[in-house]
Amino acid sequence: MIHRIGGVKIAPSLLAADFARLEEEIGRVEEHVDWLHLDVMDGHFVPNLSFGVPVIESLRKVTGLWFDCHLMVTNPADLVEPLAAAGANLLTMHIEAIPDPEPAAKLTRDAGLDFGLVVNPLTPFAAVAPYAELCDVLLVMSVEPGFGGQAFIDAVVPKIAEAREWVEARGLATDIQVDGGITPSNVRTVLDAGATVVVAGSAIFGADDPVRAVAEMRRAAE
Ligand code: DX5
Ligand code: ZN
Repeated sequence: MIHRIGGVKIAPSLLAADFARLEEEIGRVEEHVDWLHLDVMDGHFVPNLSFGVPVIESLRKVTGLWFDCHLMVTNPADLVEPLAAAGANLLTMHIEAIPDPEPAAKLTRDAGLDFGLVVNPLTPFAAVAPYAELCDVLLVMSVEPGFGGQAFIDAVVPKIAEAREWVEARGLATDIQVDGGITPSNVRTVLDAGATVVVAGSAIFGADDPVRAVAEMRRAAE
């Protein structure tokens, strides 16, 4: 499965799509994006509910896109097996939810999926640094998780650079993902800091023409 198109991977967040027309929304951008970012929320770890396993299972029947599942839930390990069966490809879990991530990482790998850790804006990179080698992806949140459409928090930029330096110093191929408030106006900043994957909800599915929005994002990223 191809999950990389150009120099930067673009992962539109389905949270900003029209939930009554998910197949159509995905179909429009499918050939233009690298991953599909799926925000799973439990109304407990974050104060919002989105969608979960049954929806992802249905989406798998209508697209071959790489499913990047961002688990904003209190017990992410409980979702590993159901999400593997539903057709997920990558699971990212918050270090704030699983202070000891090793068992969850092992469970995820044993299920044949990629694994990543996420840090909230106020959590230092040091919280995940010791576990970087367990991760295919390190996700730096650039908004407080829970809702789309929030403004990018500039203060996280040094953390992106810190993550990049950490993985490079160790010769790791870990992707550095950034999520929240990304637009064509700030994408260059996060890429210059060392991000390799950008998530964008409002800026893509919230646009009148999502395909043009992806092209604008790629142009801005060049
Ligand atoms: C926030 C989610 C994000 C969100 C991004 O909790 O993790 O993925 O959908 O949406 P925008 O791009 O609108 O900030
Ligand atoms: Zn997300």
